[in-house]
Amino acid sequence: MRLTLWRNARLVTLAGTEPWSVIDHGALLVDGDRLQWIGRESDLKAGLQIDAEHDLGGALVTPGLIDAHTHLVYAGQRASEFELRLQGASYWQIAQSGGGIRSTVAATRAAGEAQLLAAAAARLAQLQADGVTTVEVKSGYGLTLEHERRCLNVARRLGLERRADVRTTYLAAHALPPEFDGRADDYIGAVCRWMVQLNQERLIDAVDAYCEPNAFSPVQVARVFEQAQRLGLPVKLHAEQFSDSGGAVLAAGYRALSCDHLEHLGRDGVAAMARSGSVAVLLPAAFYFLRESRLPPVDALRRAGVALAVATDHNPGTAPTLSLRLALNMACTLFGLTPEEALRGATVHAARALGLFDRGRLSEGLRADFAAWDLEHPAELAYWIGGSPCRRLVCAGMPVEQ
Ligand code: NIG
Ligand code: FE
Repeated sequence: MRLTLWRNARLVTLAGTEPWSVIDHGALLVDGDRLQWIGRESDLKAGLQIDAEHDLGGALVTPGLIDAHTHLVYAGQRASEFELRLQGASYWQIAQSGGGIRSTVAATRAAGEAQLLAAAAARLAQLQADGVTTVEVKSGYGLTLEHERRCLNVARRLGLERRADVRTTYLAAHALPPEFDGRADDYIGAVCRWMVQLNQERLIDAVDAYCEPNAFSPVQVARVFEQAQRLGLPVKLHAEQFSDSGGAVLAAGYRALSCDHLEHLGRDGVAAMARSGSVAVLLPAAFYFLRESRLPPVDALRRAGVALAVATDHNPGTAPTLSLRLALNMACTLFGLTPEEALRGATVHAARALGLFDRGRLSEGLRADFAAWDLEHPAELAYWIGGSPCRRLVCAGMPVEQ
């Protein structure tokens, strides 16, 4: 047992369902990678053998932030598409003329593993500078067995390289690669075969797909989900981003951990998600960057009791941001979440969206993942646009270099 005391904190635990509150003069006692005790310093048991002590200087301490939806592993950038869209071209027009996901696939296939790792590690460092301790990373810019493996391997190595907990998601059903033009069903067959192999190699924590008329149909997604179910892998879905394709209803039938995007989610989708306990992962940065106008049905989701999470969706095409705090701000200004809902959406509900119950709150027995902020009130996490208020970050009990 090695006990570390982090004292002189103002704690926002997010434990329980009470409205958030701040515990002044708080302390966290960490045993290895777990929180052994949390509370007012004056209530700390006397006579403990403490091995190391840190003064947090009165900083606000929250659970480490969790980014539950990113596409962090890729090469290149797509600023020229941004310019085309500003001139009026649509996301799908650009994709159909060879840009879009396929252009990032070409750049990613051409990059070596070391190059992909260096680029993704630099991105992860930026997420960490903004308080992230757990990040989900999707494949989906490789689209061959070899290249999907490379991207998932990079994701696995990232966590070790940068002291973060990385959860990998297999998203080979992201786009149809050019070598399968006109043969989408054959491609789905390949996606299912590769899943077996990559799962044997322990590279997959969850399976995702892109359900849209311009990507994959519900019938094709169902084949991917059937295979995931056979392998015992949880699923999630890019659903109802540009149209209501019935993706959320389908995903709920497979007890999806989450359905993500959801701007075009209908009533039946909301009800199905409520029944299955799937989390709604809102991605306001993509909504903003694509200059969309249709809002996700936040009120209906709230009324149905669906948990709301907020993530960056970091990717080079639709969400080139590495600040989860910016996504929290946008979730409030664009989607109408309260700052408290937004913060719960990047902590406790984000954890659920990844099937994790050992983090996202500050409670005894949970992982010692926390962020110390130079802020007075937790609402400021959704209030400031930019800046760098994160002072210290601790992941699994260990300080993260920032
Ligand atoms: O989540 N929707 C699909 N995937 C990404 C976009 C990927 C890209 O354009 O490169 C998203 O928005
Ligand atoms: Fe995405």
